[in-house]
Amino acid sequence: MTFQVKGTAFITGGGSGIGKATAITLAENGISALALVDLNLIVLEATRDEIKARYPHVQGKIFKTNVAEEESVEDAVCKTVELFGSIDIGINCAGISGTPTPTHLMSLLEWQKVIDVNQTGVWLCQRALIRQMLKQESKGIREGRGLIVNVSSMFGVGGPPGPFRIPHYTAAKHGILINAICPGFVDTPIIGEQIKSGSMNPQFEMTPIGRPAQVEEISDVLLFLSSPGSSYMCGAALVADGGYTV
Ligand SMILES: NC(=O)c1ccc[n+]([C@@H]2O[C@H](COP(=O)([O-])OP(=O)(O)OC[C@H]3O[C@@H](n4cnc5c(N)ncnc54)[C@H](O)[C@@H]3O)[C@@H](O)[C@H]2O)c1
Repeated sequence: MTFQVKGTAFITGGGSGIGKATAITLAENGISALALVDLNLIVLEATRDEIKARYPHVQGKIFKTNVAEEESVEDAVCKTVELFGSIDIGINCAGISGTPTPTHLMSLLEWQKVIDVNQTGVWLCQRALIRQMLKQESKGIREGRGLIVNVSSMFGVGGPPGPFRIPHYTAAKHGILINAICPGFVDTPIIGEQIKSGSMNPQFEMTPIGRPAQVEEISDVLLFLSSPGSSYMCGAALVADGGYTV
């Protein structure tokens, strides 16, 4: 990839899947410090160790954080700023799939769980990041005071076909389109079981490219959205779904 990034990045969901791949892609392309945030400490530690071994020049910090909890988010952002001095790139990637259930059978608890993480969690992180970025000096028109990319979904721009039964996931992902990437199916743990069982095969057949994305095919788009190459984009929802929604 030819896009380059500079400075420091804060990545939620940074322990696994798209968040982890994005951390590695940014490390490969110029980032100097990474704050990785995730609820799962085990994957966070493994990702930190892998990045440290492959990119020893990149400063790495991990924070066990629940993005759905205000205090937890504020604490992670505050400690990142104490350590790194600034946050230049914020990537909100933490998310859950929820339990597929038709709307009329869904409990309030299940609805709330997905909205709390996938929508309120993104907003809480975005709010804390914007408050911090507004205090930072502008680095010029291409880099500004910082940038934020949210990881939405192709189900954040259109509705999923019937069999998915994920009204909570779809509602949450529609609400977070501010320079967002909207991936189709990506081969990561969030749908790992369904891929293994073969239950996703009909969906891959409906995808013109005929397969799920490899995680690097998404982290490369996030690299572009994190770089000065996307400096005139604002409020865009970039779909990378192998043609599924065409
Ligand atoms: N994989 C796909 O097919 C696909 C498609 C479209 C969009 N997405 C979106 O991409 C994002 C990343 O998903 P992924 O595919 O990498 O899955 P993943 O399960 O590998 O990664 C998600 C990470 O988020 C973390 N997380 C979950 N809840 C959290 C919370 N409350 N606080 C902090 N961290 C939390 C998990 O521990 C995990 O490490 C999600 O927002 C997902 O909705 C994924």
